[in-house]
Amino acid sequence: MKFFLILIQIISILNLTQCQTKCLVTLTVTCYCPNENFLINCIESHPTDDMFIDWSTFTFELRDHYSFNFINFTRLTSSTFTNFSSKFPHLNIIELNFLNGIDEIRENIFGLLDYTSNPQINVRFNSPRSFQLADNSFTPMKYFEITIDNIQNSPYEFNLNAFHNTTVFKLSVLNTEQVQFLSSKPLILNWDEISINNGSIINLNPLIESLSSDYLVKLDFSSSSIVHFPSFVNLSKLMIIDLHDNLIHEIHSNLFSNNNLVSSIDLSSNAIKRIDPNAFIQLDFLSVLNLNNNQLRTLGSENQSFLFPLNGKLRALDLAHNFLHDMNQIANLSHLEVLELYGNEIKELNESSFRNLHHLQYLDLSYNQIQSIHSSVFDHTSIRELDLSSNLLPSLQTNSFLSSLSSTLETLLLKDSRNLFEINWFVFTKFDQLRKLDLSGLNKTDKMWLFDSNDNSSFHWNREYPFKILLNNIQFTNKDYCLSKLIFQMFNNTILFLDPNHSCNCFLFLLRNRISTQNYPICLSNQSIIDDLSRECANIDSYCSSLSTTTNIMTTTVKRKDDNENWKIIVAITIPLSIILILLFLIVVFLVKRRRNNDSKGNVEMKGGIVNVLSKK
Ligand SMILES: *[C@@H]1O[C@H](CO)[C@@H](O)[C@H](O)[C@H]1NC(C)=O
Ligand SMILES: *[C@@H]1O[C@H](CO)[C@@H](O)[C@H](O)[C@H]1NC(C)=O
Ligand SMILES: *[C@@H]1O[C@H](CO)[C@@H](O)[C@H](O)[C@H]1NC(C)=O
Ligand SMILES: *[C@@H]1O[C@H](CO)[C@@H](O)[C@H](O)[C@H]1NC(C)=O
Ligand SMILES: *[C@@H]1O[C@H](CO)[C@@H](O)[C@H](O)[C@H]1NC(C)=O
Ligand SMILES: *[C@@H]1O[C@H](CO)[C@@H](O)[C@H](O)[C@H]1NC(C)=O
Ligand SMILES: *[C@@H]1O[C@H](CO)[C@@H](O)[C@H](O)[C@H]1NC(C)=O
Ligand SMILES: *[C@@H]1O[C@H](CO)[C@@H](O)[C@H](O)[C@H]1NC(C)=O
Ligand SMILES: *[C@@H]1O[C@H](CO)[C@@H](O)[C@H](O)[C@H]1NC(C)=O
Ligand SMILES: *[C@@H]1O[C@H](CO)[C@@H](O)[C@H](O)[C@H]1NC(C)=O
Ligand SMILES: *[C@@H]1O[C@H](CO)[C@@H](O)[C@H](O)[C@H]1NC(C)=O
Ligand SMILES: *[C@@H]1O[C@H](CO)[C@@H](O)[C@H](O)[C@H]1NC(C)=O
Repeated sequence: MKFFLILIQIISILNLTQCQTKCLVTLTVTCYCPNENFLINCIESHPTDDMFIDWSTFTFELRDHYSFNFINFTRLTSSTFTNFSSKFPHLNIIELNFLNGIDEIRENIFGLLDYTSNPQINVRFNSPRSFQLADNSFTPMKYFEITIDNIQNSPYEFNLNAFHNTTVFKLSVLNTEQVQFLSSKPLILNWDEISINNGSIINLNPLIESLSSDYLVKLDFSSSSIVHFPSFVNLSKLMIIDLHDNLIHEIHSNLFSNNNLVSSIDLSSNAIKRIDPNAFIQLDFLSVLNLNNNQLRTLGSENQSFLFPLNGKLRALDLAHNFLHDMNQIANLSHLEVLELYGNEIKELNESSFRNLHHLQYLDLSYNQIQSIHSSVFDHTSIRELDLSSNLLPSLQTNSFLSSLSSTLETLLLKDSRNLFEINWFVFTKFDQLRKLDLSGLNKTDKMWLFDSNDNSSFHWNREYPFKILLNNIQFTNKDYCLSKLIFQMFNNTILFLDPNHSCNCFLFLLRNRISTQNYPICLSNQSIIDDLSRECANIDSYCSSLSTTTNIMTTTVKRKDDNENWKIIVAITIPLSIILILLFLIVVFLVKRRRNNDSKGNVEMKGGIVNVLSKK
């Protein structure tokens, strides 16, 4: 595959070269210059020991920006760029790309590059071969980026002496199977950023020890098979550490300097089981910590947690995809704004779980096993987005944990809440900011459509912005229209999202003006189905009232009026009614038994009806 890509690259280069003019022809090298763009392709025709290129013979228009591709060069020496700068005196940006080939880089290759104007120098090596670096091969000067991609020689011994006293804004070593860093003397590497990705690093210490503490700001060793968290004690300017996708399983203490500026650490996708309680103790500026996809089972014991030193500092914490079941140690992270806890083993949220999280705005608790949430757990937070998808919550009620979020919550996700059998929609009337509610994949029951204020409060619902309700992956019926009528009457400016393949019925038809046009049900685009539905649904109200006399669901909607008089009437009706029903039931049981008929199904349904009536008082 790779060979194929290189082949294509080479073919395209060859094609290009045919319609370009030769602008430098020496014994060793032929360069082709384009007529329009800035790219110059130089191909080694004949390797020599000193690789001298006589740039003074270069004949082409001089510009302030050129990009050079050196194709198939085997060797770079201090003669290669002799007189380059006197030939191109006005370059602002110098881009030197070495494609394939490089076996050897000798000492001081850019020694004769003499610019007073400080051009931006970018050097890139693509798929070099042996890539043997002599000591001091990279002339001590200022580079913007040096990128070494896909060294063919593996395991590769990376001679750091080659870079002694270089100043580099960003140095990257990418896609090289195994890299072993070597240095034989104390070095000065004035590098601001370093990235070593996708490979495996053997012996990191010579590199870390050589990096100048006055320079290094950002370090990215992701996907590098690192087993031990490196010590950064001498890197006092370091701010960003990215070690994601490695093999770290433990984090010890004393890994950072006393006066450090570290603000972000990404340790996601490692195998971390344990973090020393003092591991992050010197990190006064740490605001982002990512521990996603590790093997943490606990955040520490009562008075010992790696999070305690971060109280009042951390602003974003990702603990998703671990094995956590309690999170009491989070309660004092008072500056936390974003908290990811999805994919853990949390079963309950009790009163103190988020006690001092005054700034918490985004909380993702999806894919846990949460069954109960204490009603005041969010009292001191200001959550705007709450994801509780795929948990085991049984109901949403007024006076629940949601009431403390009424002035802040904008998004509430309850997707795939398979146990959420009971929803009192009156809850949502209290939210001033709510814009998105996801109830997709719910295990639908009749109690999905309760609407009960529980007190005298009336509702108002004047929204200027659209309110989105996602109800994908649920099949609604005509009965759902009856049960939900009150709720949808209340929604002004609501957009419903349903499966586009939802089967057609009066629920869809009568609510069609509120269904999102993006995912509009396919069946409603068929005029003959619409004609049928408009006939069928004209009588839906009588169907609904027949339902409401046979079931007790609508009593909740009557109760909403909460008139003491009404209440008494309901009690006065339901009590004798239940007695009558019980008597009827006994008679039926008696009759059934007498007839020795095995109609147990009807029996069960009858019982269910009575239980329901009683449970509703
Ligand atoms: C580079 O070298 C390879 C063989 O190593 C050769 O196939 C290819 O044609 C050379 N590319 C150019 C542009 O000459
Ligand atoms: C480099 O250029 C200078 C003048 O710019 C000239 O004197 C010198 O001979 C050149 N050196 C080589 C090796 O071409
Ligand atoms: C490092 O290079 C600079 C020039 O870039 C030079 O002035 C300085 O003496 C060098 N230091 C060492 C220790 O080599
Ligand atoms: C990682 O590097 C190898 C070569 O060592 C390469 O084949 C692979 O495509 C790289 N993977 C990514 C994701 O870049
Ligand atoms: C930090 O610097 C001190 C003194 O310069 C040195 O002894 C120590 O080995 C360095 N530690 C690391 C981890 O680089
Ligand atoms: C921390 O807890 C341990 C037992 O878990 C106890 O022995 C120790 O005294 C406690 N320390 C403080 C400061 O409370
Ligand atoms: C909260 O839950 C944890 C377990 O998750 C338990 O250890 C702790 O005692 C509970 N706290 C309260 C106040 O119920
Ligand atoms: C949070 O801080 C309070 C007061 O400083 C302290 O009493 C409590 O034990 C702390 N709780 C946690 C979980 O750190
Ligand atoms: C839906 O709820 C019923 C109980 O009412 C339960 O038996 C069933 O397994 C649930 N379905 C799913 C997909 O969880
Ligand atoms: C209902 O409201 C009336 C007057 O607004 C008040 O007197 C009564 O106490 C309220 N009842 C309840 C249960 O809040
Ligand atoms: C929705 O509310 C707006 C403003 O509050 C009002 O102008 C509009 O008539 C309402 N629409 C419906 C259908 O009630
Ligand atoms: C609708 O499509 C989804 C997949 O897109 C499928 O899972 C579901 O069973 C379909 N529903 C119906 C009623 O065809």
